[in-house]
Parts: sequence; structure tokens; C-alpha cells
Amino acid sequence: MDFQLIHTDTKSNARAGLIKTDHGEIETPVFMPVGTVGSVKAVHINELKSDIGAEIILGNTYHLYLRPGLEILKGAGGLHKFNSWNKPMLTDSGGFQVFSLTENRKLTEEGAEFRSHIDGSKHFFTPEKVMDIQRTIGADIIMAFDECTPGDADYAYAKESLELTERWLERCIKRFNETECPYGHKQSLFPIVQGCVYPDLRRRAAENIAALEADGNAIGGLAVGEPTEKMYEMVELVNDILPKDKPRYLMGVGKPENLLEAIERGVDMFDCIMPTRNGRNGQIFTKQGVMNMRNEKWKNDFSPIEEDGASYVDTLYSKAYLRHLINSNEILGLQIASIHNLAFYIWLMKEARKHIIDGTFSQWKPMMIENVTRRL
Ligand code: GUN
Repeated sequence: MDFQLIHTDTKSNARAGLIKTDHGEIETPVFMPVGTVGSVKAVHINELKSDIGAEIILGNTYHLYLRPGLEILKGAGGLHKFNSWNKPMLTDSGGFQVFSLTENRKLTEEGAEFRSHIDGSKHFFTPEKVMDIQRTIGADIIMAFDECTPGDADYAYAKESLELTERWLERCIKRFNETECPYGHKQSLFPIVQGCVYPDLRRRAAENIAALEADGNAIGGLAVGEPTEKMYEMVELVNDILPKDKPRYLMGVGKPENLLEAIERGVDMFDCIMPTRNGRNGQIFTKQGVMNMRNEKWKNDFSPIEEDGASYVDTLYSKAYLRHLINSNEILGLQIASIHNLAFYIWLMKEARKHIIDGTFSQWKPMMIENVTRRL
């Protein structure tokens, strides 16, 4: 994997870059639609590629390991072949899912024991096993196995948790270096900075990770219950330390305004379930603000979903029709909402990139934040 910095904003830390992988290029800042089980919910691959313009999607180790399982993924020749997405892909390590989805989990030095959310069966993830699973899935970018420290953890817990994540990272790197991708393309391992909301822990984590000279670096343990201002403060602090010539990925964030604030602080990559999950619940993000499609207000509004929206669905369908579909639990409603929201997120990243390159990011950003945070 290669990363080229195309332009850095003179008035902020915003950057425009280009990541090159064996499955193609990614222009940054980039939003990665979440495809937990190897499919972006309710969205066909052709729509993802041509209508939405996604350049990279995300899969989850935890889910793919439980179902369909490694034998099937191996038999298919990896996830790219299995789901027909022949562009870049990233897998999260399960470090978040194990801790947020499963109830009976037990952490030890060796790894994490957990019960499947599907059938209650018992499993054990070690850093080595998580590397092996991600080799078998075959994503272009794979993530270190970490503990996602809760946002309200006290200092002692956060410190112990970070130290465990650091020891696990060493084991991840060792296993990663001893193995290779079974399908012949290159995979890159991204370490994850933890440390909760404690500046000294975040600083130490970022310094240790910066020294590794990985192909890219991630910031985890944010948007997990801490105040938003703390999140921005941590991103700023960490990005001051992480290498400038490598992509920076802020995991699991967030609302459109969070993305713009993080871009200003030097983040290049994002993923979040918000556009798809919230979309399925009727929340629609637009350039003029946020709409709740379940609202009575849209009942007789036959105007387009969004007049100058980023997707063809915006003028093909009206607000009243989308409201009707969502209220009727129609599958088409979920599809339209997901396509619209993903196209909007990806449009927002492309606009940010354009404004970074032409030097107008610092004027454009506050105006855009005012727009995207409006309630319609
Ligand atoms: N997704 C959102 N936050 C995190 C995190 O801290 N760790 C991992 N592995 N995934 C995440």
C-alpha cells in the first residue's frame, strides 16, 4: 500500500491524499460504507460502485468468522471473490464487536473469550487468531486486535486496557510478519491508538505507534460515550504525533459534522454505520439538514427527496413516497434511504477534498456544518 499526500491545507491540518492498493486507488478524505457481513445492507454492489461512488468498503472479522466462517471464505478465494467487490476493502479486527455485541465476554492476557450473538456458542480470539482470520478474509487493510476502551473508563482502567492493547499489538505484528495473504495481493496492518480521554495515555499510545512506521494508523476508542469536544481534543493531540506521510483512520465516526471537524484535524479515513442504520430508521442527511422521514410534515410533500442531491434516487422519488415506504416497512424504503445517505456522505468527502485542494476548506467547512446540522 502506498500513500501520497496531494495537498495539505495552509489554514488547518486538513489533507487530500491518494492511497494505492492492489485492488485500486482511494482518494482521501474517504468515507467507507460498512459491510459488516460482507454486504452493505440493502445496497447492491453496482449501486455502491457507480451511483454512490464508494471506493472502499469495510467488513467485520467478528461477523465473518461466525458466519459464513473461514472454510467458506477460503473456498471462495477470499471476501473480494465471495461478494464480487473487486475494489479496496478493510476489515475491522473484532476488537470493537467483541466488546460491544457480546454479553459473556472475558478478557485475559491471552485474548478474549466471548459467546456468539447468533447461537451463544463459545469462541476465543487471540491477536494471532485475529491476524490469521483477516489473512483468510483477505482485505487490503486489516486492523490490529485491540480493546476498545469505553469513553467513561476511569484512568486506572484506561491505562491497563491500553497496556493490554499494546502487548496485543506486538503479537499482531509478529504474526502478521510471519504470514502472508493466501491470495497473492498485499495486505497492510493498521495499529490502533487507544487511551480513552486521557491526554498522557493518548500521547504515549500515539508515540509508540508512530515509531512502528506502519502503512497507516487508526484512532479508536472515540465516539464511545465521551463528550464530543473530548473526541476532537484527542484527535488533535494524536494527529500531532502520528506520521504525516501515512493515512489516519478515525474508527466508527460519525455524524457529517464530526467528519468535517476531524478532517480539519488531519483525519483521512472514516467508517460509520450511521448513514445506513439511521437511514433504515428514516433519518435522511442532506446538504440542507437532517430529515426524519417518519414525521407527519412530509406526508403531503411531493417534492424530491433532495433537489440537487448526490444520488439519482433524490429526484426519482418524493419525500412523501419515501415516508410512505418507510412507514410501511417496505424493503424499497430501506434501499432508497441507504443509497441516499451513503451518496451524501461520499459526496461530502469529495467536496471536502475539492475545497482542501483549491484552498477554500476553511471558508467552506463552517458554512457546511451550519447546513448539515440543521433540523428540517
Ligand atoms: N470501531 C470503532 N471504534 C473502534 C475501536 O476502538 N477499535 C476497533 N477495533 N474498532 C472500532
